[in-house]
Amino acid sequence: MATVLILLGPPGAGKGTQASRLAAERSLPHVSTGDLFRENLSQGTDVGKRAQEFMDAGKLVPDEIVLEMLFDRVARPDCARGYVLDGFPRTLPQAEALQARLPADDEVRAISLEVDDEVVVRRLSGRLTCSKGGHMHHVDFSPPKVAGVCDTCGGELVRRKDDAPEVIQERLAVYREQTAPLIGYYEGLGLLHRIDGAQEPDRVFAELVDAATATRRETA
Ligand code: AP5
Ligand code: MG
Repeated sequence: MATVLILLGPPGAGKGTQASRLAAERSLPHVSTGDLFRENLSQGTDVGKRAQEFMDAGKLVPDEIVLEMLFDRVARPDCARGYVLDGFPRTLPQAEALQARLPADDEVRAISLEVDDEVVVRRLSGRLTCSKGGHMHHVDFSPPKVAGVCDTCGGELVRRKDDAPEVIQERLAVYREQTAPLIGYYEGLGLLHRIDGAQEPDRVFAELVDAATATRRETA
């Protein structure tokens, strides 16, 4: 039996920040489809080339590309005990494909990090992403000790191309239209927890750990 923890939330909700902490705490791999696409992009793979135009425009990469990449990743031995999903699923067909693939005795929890648009814009316009380990910093909320250098691994901190103001607005619109309906989908399955993602990071993390360990009956 595996544990599958799904982090839902708009761009900038803190999915990456919190998923990496939760994965470390639970000794499970952190599987981020956004990070997998960015890795493919930097390695110049076919998947990376096919995803780039969608990512740069703030649109979703087509489901068939995402599903193939994701299912390949979670079939690896390190995912046998479970994994933390960040940025997947993002459409109803992706969620249905995941549910159909999971064995019936897997523990699934979907946790929605809820933040409003104003918070998203503030966070993403100041975000600094580590180009080596994917760690997050923010110019105001978590500035690095040395400018341009990741505190965790010493990698170079960069601004993501899709954090440009007009792309942030497009990502928010795409989220509302295509991803927000998943909250109702998981609620209907009795698997949903909601967390106020606008709280300070340690508070969000404490609530996330509680939600991730709650029994299935408590989630209904
Ligand atoms: P992806 O990389 O998943 O981006 P996203 O969902 O837009 O989310 P972000 O990574 O921007 O935000 P986050 O929630 O991880 O927040 P973070 O922790 O960084 O996807 C990118 C693209 O890939 C998509 O647009 C699409 O094209 C494609 N893609 C990926 N998956 C796909 C899929 N399944 N289907 C189709 N296409 C797909 O935090 C943000 C900032 O806030 C940081 O600076 C952080 O330090 C700060 N922060 C975090 N928490 C707090 C807090 N509590 N208080 C203050 N500051 C905080
Ligand atoms: Mg992220």
